[in-house]
Amino acid sequence: MKPKILITRAVFEEVVADLRQTFDVETGGQDPWPPEELRRRAAGMDALMVWGDRIDAALLDAAPKLRAVCNMMVGYNNLDIGACTERGVLATNTPGVLDDTTADMVWALLLAAARRVTESERWLRAGNWKGLRFSEPLGRDVHHATLGILGMGRIGRAVARRARGFDMPVIYHNRSRLSPALEQECNARYVSFDELLSQSDFLSLNLPYSNDSHHLIGAKQLARMKPTAIIINTARGGIIDDAALIEVLRSKRIAGAGLDVFEGEPDFNPGFLALDNVALAPHLGSATFATRMAMARLAAANVTAVFAGERPPSLINPEAWGRRRKSDNSQ
Ligand code: DGY
Repeated sequence: MKPKILITRAVFEEVVADLRQTFDVETGGQDPWPPEELRRRAAGMDALMVWGDRIDAALLDAAPKLRAVCNMMVGYNNLDIGACTERGVLATNTPGVLDDTTADMVWALLLAAARRVTESERWLRAGNWKGLRFSEPLGRDVHHATLGILGMGRIGRAVARRARGFDMPVIYHNRSRLSPALEQECNARYVSFDELLSQSDFLSLNLPYSNDSHHLIGAKQLARMKPTAIIINTARGGIIDDAALIEVLRSKRIAGAGLDVFEGEPDFNPGFLALDNVALAPHLGSATFATRMAMARLAAANVTAVFAGERPPSLINPEAWGRRRKSDNSQ
């Protein structure tokens, strides 16, 4: 009998067809199932390919045969890694295949917020354009402005490399400083967190969400930013305190924001909708055909490796390898 896997969303038919050679595959639709339904569907499965669905101890206990949970994304704050490891469930993600696409999205939001593109489109669609105006709407120059990057992993570095075309000085802050060679490649200068806040004209957040990064940008940090600054978040909701951000955007204490991610998404703070100085997107960072295909294929390679008895290419919890569940489900 083939092992059973559940792919919680609609993915590409060719990826599913490949997986069907090895697995008995069930797939979901475009939208997530409520947690109880996911738990019910996961019971009896040997592996899950998930798309940001919350995988916690309760779900793992409801699915005692699970050998692997393969996130089809790079961020994995939706997975309780400790609970997976305790149960010998291998957890994987998709690093490396979405860096450039996500970095492109940072620039899409940065330019949209700086040049007031989404706000102006709403104005145009509402039939307000009567003639070419001279002194409004006026945005902010991107070229030669200082780009600040918080989190200088692969995506942060891809964002930095793109700044060369705009002749922008780049400053960054990261848990650890980059090697001189990487700093040179990114043309980026290491600064303290405080300097990053106070010197950036554009501040891009490119760090993972964790307990440590929860509300790392709150009222106090926003108050340190220039009144002309624009903040971009394509990383994860929860890194910014959204209520505090809405307050500084409303009072024009900072100039603007470009946001692809939100606290509690998809139920984001409706305060954003009343603001013109924020460009909003529904978590599109990696949403191109080629990149989503690469993410699905990497997740499929991970699950296939597990059932071939091989270490999956992007294992998050190597500690679970020694205690991984075998096909007869013995630990
Ligand atoms: C990720 O991969 O973590 C993104 O947020 C979704 O593409």
